[in-house]
Amino acid sequence: MGNGKTYYITTPIYYPSDNLHIGHAYCSVAADTMARFKKLEGYDTYFLTGTDEHGQKIERNAAKKGMTPQAFVDEIVLGIKDLWKLMDIDYSDFIRTSDERHVKAVQKIFRKLFDQGDIYKGNYEGWYCTPCESFFTELQLKDGCCPDCGRPVEKTSEEAYFFKMAKYQEWLIDYIEAHPDFIQPVTRKNEMLNNFLRPGLSDLCVSRTSLKWGVPVDFDEKHTVYVWLDALTNYITALGYESEETSLYEKFWPADLHLVGKEIVRFHTIIWPIILHALDLPLPKQVFGHGWLVLQGTKMSKSLGNVVDPVVLCNRYGSDAIRYFLMREMPFGSDGQFSYEALLTRVNADLANDLGNLVSRTVAMVEKYFDGVVPAHGEWEETDNALIKLCGETPAKVRAHMDDLQFSSALNDTWQLIGECNRYIDLNTPWILIKTDEGKERLKTVMYVLCECIRIVAILIAPTMPQTPARIFEQLGVSGEELTSWEAANTFGLLPEGTTVQKGEALFPRIDIKKELADIMPTPAEEKKAAEKKPEKKQEQRPVEQKPADDGVITIDDFAKVELRVARVKTAEKVEKSDKLLKFTLILGANDPERTVVSGIAQFYAPEEMIGKQVVLVSNLKPAKLRGIKSEGMILCASDAEDKVLKLVSVEDGMEDGAYIR
Ligand code: MSP
Repeated sequence: MGNGKTYYITTPIYYPSDNLHIGHAYCSVAADTMARFKKLEGYDTYFLTGTDEHGQKIERNAAKKGMTPQAFVDEIVLGIKDLWKLMDIDYSDFIRTSDERHVKAVQKIFRKLFDQGDIYKGNYEGWYCTPCESFFTELQLKDGCCPDCGRPVEKTSEEAYFFKMAKYQEWLIDYIEAHPDFIQPVTRKNEMLNNFLRPGLSDLCVSRTSLKWGVPVDFDEKHTVYVWLDALTNYITALGYESEETSLYEKFWPADLHLVGKEIVRFHTIIWPIILHALDLPLPKQVFGHGWLVLQGTKMSKSLGNVVDPVVLCNRYGSDAIRYFLMREMPFGSDGQFSYEALLTRVNADLANDLGNLVSRTVAMVEKYFDGVVPAHGEWEETDNALIKLCGETPAKVRAHMDDLQFSSALNDTWQLIGECNRYIDLNTPWILIKTDEGKERLKTVMYVLCECIRIVAILIAPTMPQTPARIFEQLGVSGEELTSWEAANTFGLLPEGTTVQKGEALFPRIDIKKELADIMPTPAEEKKAAEKKPEKKQEQRPVEQKPADDGVITIDDFAKVELRVARVKTAEKVEKSDKLLKFTLILGANDPERTVVSGIAQFYAPEEMIGKQVVLVSNLKPAKLRGIKSEGMILCASDAEDKVLKLVSVEDGMEDGAYIR
């Protein structure tokens, strides 16, 4: 039943890539869960996703494959849509920035902003980061590299159009301060105000002449619209803004929620609101910047690509289990580790044991004790009242958490109810009650209460796990809106007596975790094989070890054993209870796993100044545990005789991440 209200939610539009990983899926699962929840509550919901197809990176990748950019992205988009289907991502529309409807609208928007004087023509001299599709001034660079991803930037100089961002800076500060819910979580809001807005905005370069694969500026065709301006507008062009058919736009804009990863909050809360305001359009009600799913460094290698491939995960454990894990495991807004152990433990403990067993033993008992027919209940007793009360309170708690985007807490409350149901069985001991006539009378009530709680649980989990409720309802003999709607979750006692239950397959078969881990984790032989693919294999073929000469001189073969590589610092943090140690995540190029390295340089370098820096790493050092952290290599530094001065060793002018030092 509708509540007469609308709800518009979006994911970012994804860069076309044929290996979208579980982190990308995280954002879509969250948006889909929210959209389904709102739909369940009765909102007329619109859920938009899509692909961000323009830019230099696509142009180059397509050229490498000898394809046109359009053919290249067409192929990838099919794969992305298949992935969303597999994961039950039930979007209302999939916008592609190469869609004609989008291209035309972007051109009109650009012209409008130019005609009203917000866009002007000038000359651009600066730095461009291709992977981030972002321009930076000299001042914005960090150690000469992209301040966002730390990778090398390219110098550009060309005629360009600029957007007068600075003109709107004060307005935006006031807006953000007056609308505390606009940027969430609040840490992101402070970051935007303090790091970007208050220091001052520069005018933004919004066209390029060196890029062809993009939206041409229709009144000056040698210019192509800046990819972020092109991409951000998808949220309104998909609704028909600046088209003949604007009814969706009128119905759904402003969006209720843009869900985005934390690294792109800046584009969504600075550039996007300013464009909208310049167009005299209302701003989205909220931009929520979620954290990252961090994948354990050593398991991210190419040879283990399946470890993080959502397709493999869904095929192995079912998409409901993966969706549940993603939404349950970590608080939304914070970063979280992905690990197989955590996933499999959740599947066994929460899904197979708590939920699966509750359903299977309840249905089995109704079959065994009451010929499969749900009995009429008698007077409530104390244990019944306690469970019925919790069952009555849970939907409201779930709703409150969902409104705060706390998916994990919403599931936690639902699982508390499931846990109480299991305890209720143990407390009431049906297997003893059945032995006497009086006990059998009491058992009728116990079975009714359990069936009714399970019906309500099935409704509550539906947004996160869209396939499981139907399987539960089938076993319970429940169907129809009056028993499965949100209202029905809020009313205890709707299940008619006389309903016929039917035991089905286990909802979530238990996994033998040890066996499964052995199956999916690399075996020592696989690890060896992966290692052999790396250049150090060559070292194994070198002549047998020679002992260093007594005078301390080593041979070239001794030296060749040491593998030195350029690595870039991705994250850096202090090691707890140590004033000397810093813990780093290091990037060694796209084909190698990230490394964790602990280094004793905390007294000389602050963690924040290390991020983005390139260091020299002894990369084939045997891993060692430092303060319980596995350190996989050593960062090279120069120090004076008394260790009072210490400086990082670096490579002049920088090098590609992962480069070997010979
Ligand atoms: N194309 C831009 C968005 C333009 S929106 C107008 C983009 N695309 S992306 O494909 O790189 O990322 C899409 C979303 O996936 C982002 O919100 C990003 O944060 C999210 N994720 C990518 N890797 C992720 C994790 N490891 N964990 C969680 N989300 C992550 O950015």
